Amino acid sequence: MGIKFKNVSYTYQANTPFEKKALNDITIEVTPGTFTAIIGHTGSGKSTLIQHLNALLLPQEGNIEIDDFNIDNRKTLRLKQLRKKVGVVFQFPEQQLFEETVLKDIMFGPINFGLSKKDAMEVAEETASLIGLDKDILNKSPFELSGGQMRKVAIAGILASKPSILVLDEPTAGLDPRGKKQLMELIRKLNKEDGITIILVTHNMEDALKYADKFIVMHEGKVLFNGGYEIFISEHELLSKTNLSIPFPLSFLNRFEAKFNVEVNKNVRSLEDAIEKITPHLRVGEL
Ligand SMILES: Nc1ncnc2c1ncn2[C@@H]1O[C@H](COP(=O)(O)OP(=O)(O)O)[C@@H](O)[C@H]1O
Ligand SMILES: [Mg+2]
Repeated sequence: MGIKFKNVSYTYQANTPFEKKALNDITIEVTPGTFTAIIGHTGSGKSTLIQHLNALLLPQEGNIEIDDFNIDNRKTLRLKQLRKKVGVVFQFPEQQLFEETVLKDIMFGPINFGLSKKDAMEVAEETASLIGLDKDILNKSPFELSGGQMRKVAIAGILASKPSILVLDEPTAGLDPRGKKQLMELIRKLNKEDGITIILVTHNMEDALKYADKFIVMHEGKVLFNGGYEIFISEHELLSKTNLSIPFPLSFLNRFEAKFNVEVNKNVRSLEDAIEKITPHLRVGEL
């Protein structure tokens, strides 16, 4: 069933001089098992949008359906069940670590959702191993860890509740390139191998193209467009008006086509893919 936003609007501080319409009539659908990237500049409404997914914010207009949950402005939700299904990792989630040990931190969710201490511990250990955290850090304080490890602990804490939808707000912000890559590969694995629906907020267009199969582009509280990678090609003029850059592998192919007056298949995820696509055009004498 997935996720359906129907005409959702949200305004902060309505009817005050500070009023700000952060979401303006959003209608989108996310199919189960997909990997969706939400892209857009700072202030475009991305974080506001994802806070609706676990009902941290309720839509002031419209509604959201997530499987058999209906989120609207009435407070009739089974919140706990919803939050077990939809795990949201907010920006800088390591700031929300608070237990004395890594293990206890990861156990917090499962206990909250009703597991016994013993079962929660088992799940926490499994999740830590799944996410690539060494066993010997489980009894350390989370605050002794590196930034990348702390981020992983925070994500493990969400994953331990076994959500079927995982939402991540700029999860790689502030990590070094190696930490970024590891985390993105892990998210890809959760999607491809465990079938978890992923919604990833990012402003890294190259990561979006590389990892996601659906893209939602937000601009000033609206969904500017929504679709597969083709949107970067078919809509690139619209995209450039928003000051978002076209993912580099695609802009590279655009320039290649223009310069050499050839047509290249642009179904690519990375620069390596793009190079593969231009190779046939590089035969001696052809250009
Ligand atoms: N708590 C808040 N109170 C008032 N305005 C807010 C609040 N949170 C966000 N906004 C405003 O709503 C708009 C959308 O913000 P946000 O959803 O955080 O965008 P993004 O995540 O894309 O950067 C911005 O103009 C922002 O300043
Ligand atoms: Mg944000």
